[in-house]
Amino acid sequence: MERTPLVVANWKMNTDLTTALNLAEEAQDATEAVNPAIDVVVCPPYPWIVPVSRALAGSRVSVGAQDVAAEEDGAYTGDVSAAMVAPWVRTVIVGHSERRALRGETDELVGRKLRAVLKHGLRPLLCLGETLAEREAGAAESVISRQFTTALDGLAPSELDDLSVAYEPVWAIGTGRAADQDDAEQMARHIRTLVASTVDPDHADRIRVLYGGSVNAANVARLTSGPDVDGALVGSASLAPGGFAGIIAAIATAN
Ligand code: PGA
Repeated sequence: MERTPLVVANWKMNTDLTTALNLAEEAQDATEAVNPAIDVVVCPPYPWIVPVSRALAGSRVSVGAQDVAAEEDGAYTGDVSAAMVAPWVRTVIVGHSERRALRGETDELVGRKLRAVLKHGLRPLLCLGETLAEREAGAAESVISRQFTTALDGLAPSELDDLSVAYEPVWAIGTGRAADQDDAEQMARHIRTLVASTVDPDHADRIRVLYGGSVNAANVARLTSGPDVDGALVGSASLAPGGFAGIIAAIATAN
């Protein structure tokens, strides 16, 4: 199956409103400038979701959230539910390693968030990744398998049509040390095999698997060149002026 490339910018807890709107415009211009179909998503911090979504209305760039609460509503001070972002976004990042490491999110909680996202008709981008210690212990594939199977436990294949997965080795995030192209492809293939065995072969063929971790305009074509890697989840380089535009152009040229 031909999978449309997907490139997602994760701005994390960065930008002021002016910068966010400028970055959104830059993503829009870069996306309009390329011919091949590419799905482009920008994930601003919560307060900029509405203005960025309004600015991008009718464009080829869609908006995503970086996280949502697992709960529907209630006394959860500071949290934001999937229902609250649903009118403004199409995609939600779930299980980013910073939330797992810094906010104590377990595989089970990531699974509950995934359900909340699906319940509101949004597209989850499930992040999976091993730490350096886990990789050095030879446990990279088993960690990815555990994170994936726990998050998806009990979900029916028919609920997973809009699932995408990002392989983001923790040691490559924000470090300037991207994975090798071979590692990215090998883990993407592993994820696809997991989808085939735990969901079904049709979804293994259809689900988009991204690579994330120190992606930039210079390395993105190489990192996404494997047959099982369908695009990139980009942090730091999506904030630099021209950075995300360069990545969009490089993916378009490579496809
Ligand atoms: P990075 O972040 O591109 O800065 O490594 C990627 C991510 O956290 O999704």
